[in-house]
Amino acid sequence: MGESNYASLEVNGKKIELPIIESSDGDNGIDISRLRAETGYITFDNGFSNTASSISNITHIDGEQGELRIRGYNIEDLVHNCSFREVAYLLVHGSLPTRDQLTAFSSYLNEHSLIDEDMHHFFSGFPRNGHPMAILAAMVTSLSSFYPDLEDTKDQSFDITAARLVSKVRTIAAFSYRKSKGQALVYPRHDLNYCSNFLNMMFDSSVKPYHIDPLYAKILDKLLILHVDHGQNCSTTAVKLIGSAKANLYAAISAGICALWGPLHGGANQAVVEMLENIMADDGDVQKYIGMAKDRDNAFRLMGFGHAIYKNYDPRAKLAKELVDELFSSREINDPLLDIARKLEAAALSDEFFIERKLYPNIDFYTGILYRALGIPTNMLTVMFVIGRLPGWIAQWKEFIDNKSRIFRPRQIYVGPDLRSFVEIDKR
Ligand SMILES: CC(C)(COP(=O)(O)OP(=O)(O)OC[C@H]1O[C@@H](n2cnc3c(N)ncnc32)[C@H](O)[C@@H]1OP(=O)(O)O)[C@@H](O)C(=O)NCCC(=O)NCCS
Repeated sequence: MGESNYASLEVNGKKIELPIIESSDGDNGIDISRLRAETGYITFDNGFSNTASSISNITHIDGEQGELRIRGYNIEDLVHNCSFREVAYLLVHGSLPTRDQLTAFSSYLNEHSLIDEDMHHFFSGFPRNGHPMAILAAMVTSLSSFYPDLEDTKDQSFDITAARLVSKVRTIAAFSYRKSKGQALVYPRHDLNYCSNFLNMMFDSSVKPYHIDPLYAKILDKLLILHVDHGQNCSTTAVKLIGSAKANLYAAISAGICALWGPLHGGANQAVVEMLENIMADDGDVQKYIGMAKDRDNAFRLMGFGHAIYKNYDPRAKLAKELVDELFSSREINDPLLDIARKLEAAALSDEFFIERKLYPNIDFYTGILYRALGIPTNMLTVMFVIGRLPGWIAQWKEFIDNKSRIFRPRQIYVGPDLRSFVEIDKR
């Protein structure tokens, strides 16, 4: 490091000063934006894990301590004291709502909960067993042809577009599930809150009315808060990447949905449940799976374990575990996968391989079990993550656009052939 606000770098005998960008949480950055112009060199950072793509005031994560704060609030405080609607408002607008603001936001959510009737035809075009994430991504992109593009992030059109997305994604998610079951669609109701509405759209039937258990709605609400934002992760970066080209917000969110689908990211919650089912089919032999995860010649990884940033217990996993205790002790739910998950966690946390590498349960380890207990099928688990993460994507996108950031255009270190002479096809 050079003098207080500069770092010095010497490249081929040339010394340059690089400005230091101070952060409020100690993760300071070195601004290398003039590096190529001044030295002819660029940087290489596999997976961008040492590269800040943005300057952001939304989410603070301390991976070493296992801390997560959203707009300055501890995730524990938000989960214990707020509703998902309040936290969505916090993300999108920057501060927790007053009662009046929350009422106005809730009525926007209600007003915009339906999707255009013409969009219903799209559902029939998908095969019955089509993955709901594929349907969701396609439907969100098509929202852009039914609803006006956002004109300004600073006026009411932003409030409406944000509420429209938060509300409609929940409706599309429930409709995708109904279609996959070959069942009639259940429309949203204004008299129900956000999560009760979702459960009702998923499970109500004209022959067997669905009873909404308030505890189920509460657990779902808390689960969505756990997903709400997590800094510059893969899907958020995808949203910004597409947004940086000034594509519309729906297209950017759809890109986030596709990125989240991957099993190393949001798709891990589905992969965890599938892994636990495999262990159950293997007579609950958790040690076999621990052995597979440790075997360097085996591509298998313990799903729901490890994190690119957390080198400690993921605070969201701790909260999910609390919710498991609350739900399973209050209702007669018996899930053999929960016993397997607990055994697997205990075995991994006492194993040298996992201890040395600081691999702990992440958010996806227990959330799948919770969703199962609420009746949500395995192929909908990543869709649930989307519903929770949406306010975070919108907030991160807005901040990025408001900061007038540049188009994302990384360079490469080219290692291909030099100029080759062209040879006509018959002479090759
Ligand atoms: C999340 C994840 C992609 C982070 O990856 P990462 O930061 O690149 O972690 P690394 O690959 O650097 O892991 C460091 C070491 O731990 C091992 N490791 C990491 N996660 C592991 C897991 N889940 N099971 C077994 N080994 C794991 C790696 O193989 C590596 O071992 P090595 O040092 O012998 O090469 C990774 O932990 C993972 O694949 N987890 C399972 C999928 C998952 O739950 N994703 C949801 C994240 S919220």
